Amino acid sequence: MTNQPIIELKNVSKVYSINTLETYALQNINLKIEQGEFVSIAGASGCGKSTLLSILGLLDVATSGQYMLSGHDVSGLGRDERARLRNKEIGFVFQSFNLISDLTVYENIELPLTYRTDLNRNDIADIVNDSLEIVDMASRKNHFPSQLSGGQQQRVAVARAICGGPSMILADEPCGNLDSKNAEAVMQLLERLHQGGTTVLIVTHDPKSALRAQRYVELFDGQIVSDDYVSRQDRQQVLTTVLPELHSADI
Ligand SMILES: Nc1ncnc2c1ncn2[C@@H]1O[C@H](COP(=O)(O)OP(=O)(O)O)[C@@H](O)[C@H]1O
Ligand SMILES: [Mg+2]
Repeated sequence: MTNQPIIELKNVSKVYSINTLETYALQNINLKIEQGEFVSIAGASGCGKSTLLSILGLLDVATSGQYMLSGHDVSGLGRDERARLRNKEIGFVFQSFNLISDLTVYENIELPLTYRTDLNRNDIADIVNDSLEIVDMASRKNHFPSQLSGGQQQRVAVARAICGGPSMILADEPCGNLDSKNAEAVMQLLERLHQGGTTVLIVTHDPKSALRAQRYVELFDGQIVSDDYVSRQDRQQVLTTVLPELHSADI
């Protein structure tokens, strides 16, 4: 089927219980995202953004409610099934890069592909090299993460996220630890992926980054308090005021 949303959450809640304290990280979230959308999720620290993205990325499960991924109910899947589906369908980018320190750049990108039964060694090498080209890191493929700047590490993390050809990219504050030039490089990579047809969700507490998406979802205390399409004018204004150095940035 083609016309179903890639993501549909129905009354999703997430409760963390520690001793007797219950925290409602998410409360009755209802959210539909169509294939190919570029959505930003904003809101103050602690409002549930990471929890939401972890559930969408199959890194965590909801306490209650239903998660339909491309029309399939994935709410009840076990850990292994979630991992398999995540590896194939979802690319995740974290604020802290999360590269494996004793693997090279090349090996970090290669690793998730080695679990795929549908790819042989040559396919994998081609995909890794293509992904490195896309993020402009081919010349550093034998470096270790500690030998790279934060921006370079994040570009490698983006390459790792896209290498499997996922149907969606989930990025949790991907620019949070980056200087403005590298943040811009990562935003542009995400925009390019979206233009290529990938569904992109980005968590950010920076309203200017959030307005670069097509749709802006805001959370407050675990609930969605607004969900609007970003007008072309708003996006254009952000691009002209936030990115004066855009053309001169050597990224
Ligand atoms: N593993 C956890 N155990 C207990 N509470 C958690 C856990 N993760 C998040 N929380 C709580 O859930 C709420 C939402 O957290 P989070 O999703 O990380 O927010 P955000 O990403 O918007 O800053 C916060 O109150 C946080 O303290
Ligand atoms: Mg967070």
